[in-house]
Amino acid sequence: MTEVGIDAVEIWTGKLKLDLAETFAPEMGDDPGKYTKGLGLYESSFPDTYEDIVTMGANACKRLMERKGLSPEDVGRIDVATESSFDNSKPISTYIAGCLEQTFDGDFHHANKGERKFACVAGTQAIDDAYNWIRAGRNRGRAAIVVATDTALYARGDPGEATQGAGAVAMLVDEDPSLVSLSDAQGYGSADETDFLKPNQQFPSVDGKRSVQVYLARMREAVEDYESVAGDIHPDELVYAPFHTPFPGMVRKAGLLAYRHITRDTDIETQLAEEIGMQPRRDEFDDEEAFLEAVSDYTDALKETDRYAEWYDTTIDPTLDIARHVGNWYTGSVHVARIAALKRARDEGREMTDRRLLVASYGSGAQAEVHHETVQPGWTDEIDGLNIDDQIANRYDLTFEEYEEVHDAHDHSKDRDYEEFTAPSNEFVFDGWGRMGERKYRYVA
Ligand code: HMG
Repeated sequence: MTEVGIDAVEIWTGKLKLDLAETFAPEMGDDPGKYTKGLGLYESSFPDTYEDIVTMGANACKRLMERKGLSPEDVGRIDVATESSFDNSKPISTYIAGCLEQTFDGDFHHANKGERKFACVAGTQAIDDAYNWIRAGRNRGRAAIVVATDTALYARGDPGEATQGAGAVAMLVDEDPSLVSLSDAQGYGSADETDFLKPNQQFPSVDGKRSVQVYLARMREAVEDYESVAGDIHPDELVYAPFHTPFPGMVRKAGLLAYRHITRDTDIETQLAEEIGMQPRRDEFDDEEAFLEAVSDYTDALKETDRYAEWYDTTIDPTLDIARHVGNWYTGSVHVARIAALKRARDEGREMTDRRLLVASYGSGAQAEVHHETVQPGWTDEIDGLNIDDQIANRYDLTFEEYEEVHDAHDHSKDRDYEEFTAPSNEFVFDGWGRMGERKYRYVA
């Protein structure tokens, strides 16, 4: 059967940056270590005043289509995943298609467009939709574009403020992909939760501490569900494990629990036993509390072993290389983690073809999804085509007062105009409001 997967990707970061240690921490009266060491974040990306989820998504798509030599008739589907939409009816994909039609010959009139919502897991769900559409043979030889685009802003003063970010990832889903093929096997962990939600409001209501626990619980369910169809995961089979990354510290917690789970009943557990004993088994304990305490002690000891540290450094840490400098991009976050890992592999000259990634997505509300991906022979060209390092390096460094202005500029409840901080060039920009309250866009050459 022909492989289906991600043929190419492009990333577009918001063009402003907030330095968390230098600029944010002193204003909050915090030790910078809370951000850099605790949360694992150095900087966040923000959109300039002329940027939003449409411009960032359209700019990523334009680069993607140009690099792959595509015209609109090659694309049969444009799906946008976002939790920052500004319209409850007209999908963001129509705005993005409208932007692209300003610069490409032809149009997307015969492409199916939509918008996917399930917090941060929606980007992965949109890839699923594209995969199923191609597998069903309804694509007429055309590819799908999936755009994950968000301005992940929290209310000022919310603990989540430190984890903000903004950017878009555009992905081309096609047959015979150049980057990664997707597994049929998938696992889900899904439950009605109220950890993070936006009931018709721009900024989320968040129970931050609980959201961390819900993330871990749903992720565990998804891993178990995945293993029930794909067989047990062995750490040696995985080259990287990109997780949804609201902040790297979250992935540090998830990585440790995942390692404990996937080493149980393996040769690794036996080898580690000399140092830290075997993992506690429930049937060895009379009461649940004693069992959970033993599991917690084992996990603490596991974290200190060289074997775990080495696995974390090679399998998880590379997935965080970009997140550390851009913050949470909600729907784009796990897709940024995949790219970061493959970029690190390319920088280190690692051979990746046919190697396996375990991809773990999560969205509050809440649902985790786990599947695996196999790296394809064309992956080096796709990674070499990215310019994300330059984009990150070229962001405008905000002072705290400027950050406050930018937050206000993107706050829908505040109707004020602010000057831009950077000069747009070769990109789509927000161009004011139309007569029906629609947002308008134009291309700046
Ligand atoms: P907080 O309460 O301000 O931070 O918010 P904290 O006091 O818990 O500190 C954070 C970490 O830094 C802790 O580490 C501290 O010990 C450490 P931990 O104990 O957790 O390992 N720390 C330090 N380390 C070194 N030096 C220091 C220092 N000080 C402290 N000086 C919280 C943390 C996550 C609650 C907050 O950022 C928040 O509410 N974030 C938003 C929600 C979130 O991101 N949740 C993650 C899971 S849910 C999810 O991923 C879904 C999401 O993406 C949305 C969607 O799906 O749509 C959010």
